Amino acid sequence: MTHTPDQTKDTRPNTRKVHIKTYGCQMNVYDSERMMESLTGLGFEVSAEAEGADLVILNTCHIREKASDKVYSELGRLREAQTRKAETGGRMMLAVAGCVAQAEGDEILNRAPQVDLVFGPQTYHRLPEMLAKAEREAGAQQVETDFPAEDKFDHLPQDRAVDGVTAFLTIQEGCDKFCTFCVVPYTRGSEQSRPVAAILNEARNLTAKGVREVTLLGQNVNAYHGIGPDGREWGLGRLVRALADIDGLARIRYTTSHPRDMDDDLIRAHAEVPALMPYLHLPVQSGSDRILAAMNRKHTADDFRRIVDKLRDGRPDLALSSDFITGFPGETDQDFADTLKLVREVGFAASFSFKYSARPGTPASGMVDAVPDAVKSDRLQALQQLLDAQQEAFNLSCIGKRLPILIEKPGRHPGQMVGRSPYLQPVHVDGSADLVGHVHEADIESLQSYSLFGTLVSNRDSTERACA
Ligand code: SAH
Ligand code: SF4
Ligand code: F3S
Repeated sequence: MTHTPDQTKDTRPNTRKVHIKTYGCQMNVYDSERMMESLTGLGFEVSAEAEGADLVILNTCHIREKASDKVYSELGRLREAQTRKAETGGRMMLAVAGCVAQAEGDEILNRAPQVDLVFGPQTYHRLPEMLAKAEREAGAQQVETDFPAEDKFDHLPQDRAVDGVTAFLTIQEGCDKFCTFCVVPYTRGSEQSRPVAAILNEARNLTAKGVREVTLLGQNVNAYHGIGPDGREWGLGRLVRALADIDGLARIRYTTSHPRDMDDDLIRAHAEVPALMPYLHLPVQSGSDRILAAMNRKHTADDFRRIVDKLRDGRPDLALSSDFITGFPGETDQDFADTLKLVREVGFAASFSFKYSARPGTPASGMVDAVPDAVKSDRLQALQQLLDAQQEAFNLSCIGKRLPILIEKPGRHPGQMVGRSPYLQPVHVDGSADLVGHVHEADIESLQSYSLFGTLVSNRDSTERACA
């Protein structure tokens, strides 16, 4: 394993504490973990709370207005914690990372002058240098929002700290799709795929440490086109097959996909690779072709239906989840009715739905014909009612079935363990801690809110099977 000089262990006796607060998507969760590994390599100790920490990093999300507003209210609260720290003779450095940092840069320093560092998602590997400078020169604020030519993943620690039997693994970053409502192409930059060898190494490293399930991450994960060991570009289907060959890796998932990039090889992988779990998050946003065109989604509602049909032809038990936006500019009652129609026809096992939020700099923010907030809310409520009913129906349909469960951790009650079904549902079973990390079959007996309850039927690792 190679280390850059920045990541060499710091042996200074005085341990400093770092607290990272993460907002937004799984990609931010993954990035926060990588930053934490690089900071513990520098001698920092992880602190569960901001109070008293020497460094606080907010890893932020810009996707909707509410998400970025949260950052400024948190910065207000942290100002008081900074004062308390200063009263004890210490210094709390404050850093804003992530997508708000990328989108707003200097503006953050204007609104929150107590911030020391602002740095975007592509510059995390430069954190040790930035920190050294901030420590040397108190009051010298730094803003890093480049999209550097070097790959940040090459410079982050390779040896991951593992907590649990499931892990995220970023394989692709950025997006070239430019949906008219979305900030991601601006905050994360253009699509970049990591090489196959780096991903396989990271997956082997994780598996050697007890990880049994990886979720491959990317803003547009199925646009993956990394260089393979053969010098050719590999798609996601091929990568999934190579990962499935790793001993000990029982389950593979990926998120988030775009319907346009659901190619035939990937669809076949769903039919042919048992380790690829039969649960897919495939955002559709709307069921109206007029609105999909205005969103620049580059697919129609029927394209989406056809993709789902093909996927279910090969994997009949495939459960789907999706993202929806209500009240996009110009959305009429008829457009919204088309969304409800699509939802009824396809059937989703889980979903996320949001009121449209105009984001600065995106094409849709300049569109006229805004939908009144009350209408957005009414539509959101109607959609969520339907999606909730579908989720409950799907969960109820699992009662009476025998499902393989990857046991993850102890449950809330003594003697209870919690795991996940292939369809990502939490499943509670009676059992002991030595089951953690194993896949066991359970007979599903009941449902309480979003959790299933069942009884284990085997004590050895089962092979994954479809929901019969
Ligand atoms: N890359 C993914 C998701 C990115 S963001 C994709 O292609 O779909 C996650 C979800 O946030 C999106 O799917 C969308 O439903 C929602 N979203 C993004 N921008 C939004 C906005 N301006 N207003 C409301 N919801 C938004
Ligand atoms: Fe945003 Fe569209 Fe890219 Fe998804 S595909 S990240 S919604 S621009
Ligand atoms: Fe938010 Fe950035 Fe993820 S805007 S959703 S944290 S890519």
